Amino acid sequence: MQKKRLLSGIRPTGALHVGHYLGVLRNWAKLQEEHECFYFIADWHTLTTKYKDTNELQNNTIEVAKDIIASGINPNKATLYIQSAVPEVAELHLLLSMITYQNWVERDPTLKDMVKLLAEDENKAKEEVTYGLLGYPVLMTADILSVLGEYVPVGRDQVAHLELTRDIARRFNYIYKTELFPEPQPLLTETPSVPGIDGRKMSKSLNNDIKVIDNEEITIKKVLQMITDPKKARKNDAGSPEECQVAYKHYEIFADKSTQELVRKECTTGAIGCVDCKKRLAEIINNSLSQIRIKRELIPKDSEILEILDIGNGHAKKIVKQTLDKVKDAMKLKKWN
Ligand code: TRP
Repeated sequence: MQKKRLLSGIRPTGALHVGHYLGVLRNWAKLQEEHECFYFIADWHTLTTKYKDTNELQNNTIEVAKDIIASGINPNKATLYIQSAVPEVAELHLLLSMITYQNWVERDPTLKDMVKLLAEDENKAKEEVTYGLLGYPVLMTADILSVLGEYVPVGRDQVAHLELTRDIARRFNYIYKTELFPEPQPLLTETPSVPGIDGRKMSKSLNNDIKVIDNEEITIKKVLQMITDPKKARKNDAGSPEECQVAYKHYEIFADKSTQELVRKECTTGAIGCVDCKKRLAEIINNSLSQIRIKRELIPKDSEILEILDIGNGHAKKIVKQTLDKVKDAMKLKKWN
């Protein structure tokens, strides 16, 4: 049976943290065994909000490529490429934008949330919204349809974008009387939501993340900063894992069941203090990241990464060009040489 085509992208926001690894990359590595996968680094998507400060973008793109490969994504199995290395995607985005109703993008709830996040003050947020940001779900649609992707592994927040993708695909097929585009389906995987060391969502910009490339000492330092049950003030006070919003949550994510049971017992009976408990947690986290950290160290020089990406870029370009040719045929547009 022919494998189904799957596509997913990640923004190059800098060295990735454990939330990215557990939520996205670990899943990508698994999916490459079951599908024909296209994985790309969405550098243009970063520009939809961070268009002013682009100093780090090139370097971040390479660093993310390293994290992806260290996480077990095999460029011989999956096509790994950079969005901006395939400018045909932008051409498809332009053509799709012509058939996309304005109110389809404006009602996208995830986009609305992003707009809100841009500033607490909604009026200020309005000023910050560029044409590019508004078009971002259409760009995402072009990413997916450019390789005729049938499956898209996404988090819940991205499901609304995929509805738009299906609306656009259906409308294109209807207007131009074709069956070119599939209607891509989300692959929802239950991934843990990983809190940052301060209890808010783990995020680079909140400076509360544990990075895949942090070394063991830095990891220990960060884990020791995690908040614990505020009522367990002294070492031998009895505590409650339910009140331990960050450290215990990490035990649930990283430790096996019997360790979780042990921690629960020691905590509730006051047999262990939070500092010791977190030292053990740091060790568990370090252990579970050790393989990928070793792989990350062994990753070849930038020049070799670029060679790997060149191959992926070339393959993606070939596939996207084929799609674009068919799009132009369907739209009765001339294919200029
Ligand atoms: N929108 C995703 C994010 O913000 C990244 C992304 C861009 C993507 N294009 C995609 C994901 C296509 C899946 C499919 O992280």
